[in-house]
Amino acid sequence: MALLFVSAHDHAPDWVAELTAQLPGIEVRVWPSGHRDVRVWPEGLGDPAEIDTALVWKPPAGLLASLPNLKVIFSLGAGVDALLADPTLPGLPLVRMVEPGLTEGMTEYVCLHVLRWHRDAPLFEARQRAGVWRQLTHQHLARERRVGILGLGALGGDAALALKALRFDVAGWSRSPKHLEGIATYHGAEGLGPFLARTDILVCLLPLTPETEDILDAGLFAQLPRGAVVINAARGRHLVEEDLLAALDSGQLAGATLDVFRTEPLPASHPFWSHPKVTVTPHVAAITQARTAVEQVVDGLKRLAAGRPLVNLVDRARGY
Ligand code: NAP
Ligand code: GLV
Repeated sequence: MALLFVSAHDHAPDWVAELTAQLPGIEVRVWPSGHRDVRVWPEGLGDPAEIDTALVWKPPAGLLASLPNLKVIFSLGAGVDALLADPTLPGLPLVRMVEPGLTEGMTEYVCLHVLRWHRDAPLFEARQRAGVWRQLTHQHLARERRVGILGLGALGGDAALALKALRFDVAGWSRSPKHLEGIATYHGAEGLGPFLARTDILVCLLPLTPETEDILDAGLFAQLPRGAVVINAARGRHLVEEDLLAALDSGQLAGATLDVFRTEPLPASHPFWSHPKVTVTPHVAAITQARTAVEQVVDGLKRLAAGRPLVNLVDRARGY
């Protein structure tokens, strides 16, 4: 039987090497054709009936439904919104990606950008460009800065603990109640207002679901203290872009770091590119690491073979 690998990036050779090393005997089919190193493996679907496992990022709608003997779908990414948007997605076990590389990468990104705003790096970068030497009269410490994380799952939970270790005053918001040592936790619709009211730097690490789409809007920004900062490393459709621009222009928000956008790549004419209060990164906050991700696939396949429950299964009714 064979494993279908679908990825948007030109990095298939690393993945094929890792899959072949950790799953000896499995044939890897890479889709679509046209990767750089085309002679290394047989490309394309081949006989679709031979494919029983899929490891995929944004496969075209209908592709997975065309595989009659598919048994399990592993998502290459933590977020499965694109997969769930395919109305033909087979009703098979769908496993989202939780692996240490993705978690550590996201925590690094969140700490970098929280510290960047906390220590006024954008201000000093602008002053450097203008050749201005002006010192601060008071330096705020991390313990005086309230960071709030929307989503306390695999990524939000780890980032919260790392920020706590840097001495930030950290809170998190989730759907169900949580206990995380040293973190103030809030949950549900009734917990959102109090959570926002005590958040100077807001980090979005929610999955994109019908409940969370457009959550970063004017109403939410108005509940943050004036001068707060927003960091969105989740999905572009969490953010109402025009509401963010208005909140930045009015001074309700002091800045934003955005890694994800409604349209990716971000169009060249988009105002975010040149907005003085916006930092743009090109959906690179955290990238799935081949070695540790394939370890999760191996574990999942062993569980399936032994009839044991899969971990990190997507709950389709919840949407994540
Ligand atoms: P996860 O483990 O499923 O955690 C999701 C968290 O969000 C959970 O705490 C969940 O609450 C909470 N949540 C979901 N719906 C909610 C709602 N309606 N109200 C309140 N809280 C809600 O997901 P993850 O692995 O941390 O990943 C989060 C997202 O990050 C992914 O879905 C993806 O979109 C994004 N991501 C982005 C990048 C990037 O490079 N930019 C990389 C990886 C992932 P419960 O704990 O109560 O279930
Ligand atoms: C990346 O965006 C992911 O969901 O893993």
